[in-house]
Amino acid sequence: MIPFNKPSITELEKTYMMQAIDSLKLCGDGAYTKKVYQIFGEKLGIDKMLLTTSCSHALDMSAILAGLKEGDVVIAPSYTFVSNINAFVLSGAMPVFCDVEKETMNIDASKIEELITPKTKAIYPVHYAGVICDMDKINAIAKKHNLLVIEDAAQAVGSFYKGKYAAGTIGDIGCYSFHETKNYAMGEGGAVVVKDKELFKKAEIIREKGTDRSQFIRGEVDKYTWKDMGSSFLPSDVLAAMLYGQMERFEEIMDKRMHIWNTYYDAFAEDEKAGKLTRPFIPDYSTHNAHMFYIILPSKTVRDNLITELRKREIQSVFHYIPLHSSPFGQQLDAKQQGLPVTEEYSERLLRLPLFADLQENELEYVIKNVKECL
Ligand SMILES: Cc1ncc(COP(=O)(O)O)c(C=O)c1O
Repeated sequence: MIPFNKPSITELEKTYMMQAIDSLKLCGDGAYTKKVYQIFGEKLGIDKMLLTTSCSHALDMSAILAGLKEGDVVIAPSYTFVSNINAFVLSGAMPVFCDVEKETMNIDASKIEELITPKTKAIYPVHYAGVICDMDKINAIAKKHNLLVIEDAAQAVGSFYKGKYAAGTIGDIGCYSFHETKNYAMGEGGAVVVKDKELFKKAEIIREKGTDRSQFIRGEVDKYTWKDMGSSFLPSDVLAAMLYGQMERFEEIMDKRMHIWNTYYDAFAEDEKAGKLTRPFIPDYSTHNAHMFYIILPSKTVRDNLITELRKREIQSVFHYIPLHSSPFGQQLDAKQQGLPVTEEYSERLLRLPLFADLQENELEYVIKNVKECL
């Protein structure tokens, strides 16, 4: 079976992890965590970042940082991962779901403003498939209505907006995932990026069980104490060592993934012309990180049959989010929503093809040939 995803781990990551273990500094914020911050600064220009145990936890932190509470409302897509919404629902806030654009499956910025009420406190755009949302529009709306913008950049590490702003640094707070399915992995892990200096200090405290232990470790205070609410959101340095190895291979992994993405894109041009499928669209303002290659099929039936047919041919292809407003918990929430026709229709027609750095050339050709044959 050609899997949908497979992490790319080499001797480099294993060596760094063994070094972290041998150092007997296994807990968080050790030497490798610092190296991770440095390499993110060098390669992506990212400052003020804190590693977390997952992107879900980074999102949970963002809701605490934003001060979200019962009675508040947050605008987010329904076409997203549960953690995106759980984060502020845990804080007592409610979502109001906004539709997505059919070209990118990103939140439709032109439909946000009509959803704003005096209760609205934040917007949570998701950079789907590593393609950046229409952030100038979103930031302008947020500024006008005094809202926070929290980017779910789980899938977008290595993507840029307008050629210079890394995903996660365009809004007020950004959240990354380093789950094994992401481009750069540490098994389970994530990070939160916080622009504002004071808010960043608060983030350090929330991540360290509500204490100022980070300041104590830096020698800025002579003892540490309980300052605010928080939890243990910092990952082991052993996992940071894996991520450091992945980031040293940043270009290699990106190039391999980009080659696969571009090969799929070119190979399906004819099929798109013939009306058999639609390929992803990358807006001018976004570069992407080849996180995902999806196709939009003419109907759910065609999509589902294609999954079955490809499985018979030992190829794993997968659908994606089931819109959250239609999920059992989503239905229980008293969440307002506008009509979500694009979300409902396109989520049923979308199919993701195998894409991982170590996908072999013959496997890639085999997938393309079989998708075409089945279509
Ligand atoms: C858009 C989005 N947000 C959040 C997450 C959660 O990431 P993690 O598994 O690191 O908690 C994911 C994971 O797939 C995701 O795709």
